Amino acid sequence: MIWDRQELKSVIREKIGEHKFVVVSNREPYIHIYSAGGIKCITPASGMTTALDPVMTASGGTWVAAGMGEADREVVDAKDRVQVPPDAPAYTLRRVWLSREEANAFYYSYSNEGLWPLCHIVHVRPVFREKDWQVYTAVNRRFADVVLEEVGDDTAFVFIQDYHFALLSAMIKEKRPDIIVAQFWHIPWPNPEAFRVCPNAAEILDGLLGNDILGFHIRYDCLNFLDSVDRFLEVRIDRERLSAFKGGLETLVRPFPISVDFDRIEKIADSAAVSERVRAIRGDFRFKGRFLAVGIDRMDYTKGIVERFAAVDRFLEKYPEYVGKFVFLQLGPLSRIHIQRYKQYNDEIYHAMVDINERWGRSGWEPIVLQKVQLGLEEVVSYFRAADLCVVSSIHDGMNLVAKEFVAARTDDSGVLILSQFTGSSRELEQALLVNPLAADRFADAIKQGLEMTEAEKGERMRKMRETVRENNVYRWAGKIVNEMKKLL
Ligand code: G6P
Repeated sequence: MIWDRQELKSVIREKIGEHKFVVVSNREPYIHIYSAGGIKCITPASGMTTALDPVMTASGGTWVAAGMGEADREVVDAKDRVQVPPDAPAYTLRRVWLSREEANAFYYSYSNEGLWPLCHIVHVRPVFREKDWQVYTAVNRRFADVVLEEVGDDTAFVFIQDYHFALLSAMIKEKRPDIIVAQFWHIPWPNPEAFRVCPNAAEILDGLLGNDILGFHIRYDCLNFLDSVDRFLEVRIDRERLSAFKGGLETLVRPFPISVDFDRIEKIADSAAVSERVRAIRGDFRFKGRFLAVGIDRMDYTKGIVERFAAVDRFLEKYPEYVGKFVFLQLGPLSRIHIQRYKQYNDEIYHAMVDINERWGRSGWEPIVLQKVQLGLEEVVSYFRAADLCVVSSIHDGMNLVAKEFVAARTDDSGVLILSQFTGSSRELEQALLVNPLAADRFADAIKQGLEMTEAEKGERMRKMRETVRENNVYRWAGKIVNEMKKLL
């Protein structure tokens, strides 16, 4: 059976019925900002919100998130609620306000200077400060209060997102043990050796065991989590059932590989607007008559952007016949820019590009084009369709939805995906050309192999990958989680 929006809607209606459905995340799905014509609503660059929005549209519940847009306060009602999506309201967004100091300590520092590098093992040392931990705890408490207010006296399912809320489920359960709480951790979980450097390791694990269900992308992360629990807490673990028992509560730890809205991307890919854009991209003097490879990522050190530039450099060195004939286009928005390591990384990307272009460029041609921009889905899909190759070279990534979006966009059964073996997606997309992003030489060979692949082979690989993503789409991901929650009623 292929899951779609309608199917998910009916499962949610039938299974969740009269219970409230509340989703919690730090990042909000819609951000209001001031623009020349008044207030404009934009969507953030986040795999997490991209995946959850269709789920919420299907469920029609309440999404609790931090209000971050400069005009966010202008559009909410007296209870800080606003109906979204703006053009076809389907669910409620409840905004929580954090002061600048809170956002700095909770979001930038503890979550993104601490937990993010802790969980992605990419040799960036995590930073933990006691004062940030205090604020992280207080912000989790604030969100717990808001969730409880939204639930009121009703019965409810609460579905928490990500590493910003490691303590939230236990705080909810403390007051309302009857609420069914699930959490999805959208990033990897490290092995206990790596995890043990966190000064709040035990509290974090304890907090996460407030969940009835705790989801990760892949089984590997589930096992790492249970090993960490085993190392730090005195609780019973059942490795057969993949669960941990704390007090009277069993937390089921399960893999749920997240995905994309395949049908929606496919429709956009087949639209006239996209064909028009593809023509414009292919006609651009920088790309015209050349092989085009693209990478689309937030500018984040986990994404391996510098490493992919190094592979392009090595590719031109090893295969000089491609000099002047190949362009790598890197697109994507700046991210978490107040953090020192991200500032540095942006400089590294820029300098790597300048050095490589300096080395190889000649009049009218540069091998790397870098545009730090945030693109809408239609633009992303257009670049995917215009490209011969898509490169995803994360050094570590929970899933990586760019790879799945690329596959969904290739309704022409063509195009080649070069994919890091360190992404969750590589477990499903076996027909991609899998690479270790740190092995520049082999990575360079994969670029060559991709460019020289016959149409027949491209078609065969792409058709298989498309079947996989079509079937394992985001509705299936959500449907499976909802089914698990329902079993606990
Ligand atoms: C990852 C995280 C999300 C986050 C996104 C963008 O996908 O799992 O929770 O929203 O990155 O990062 P940002 O810090 O901008 O929300």
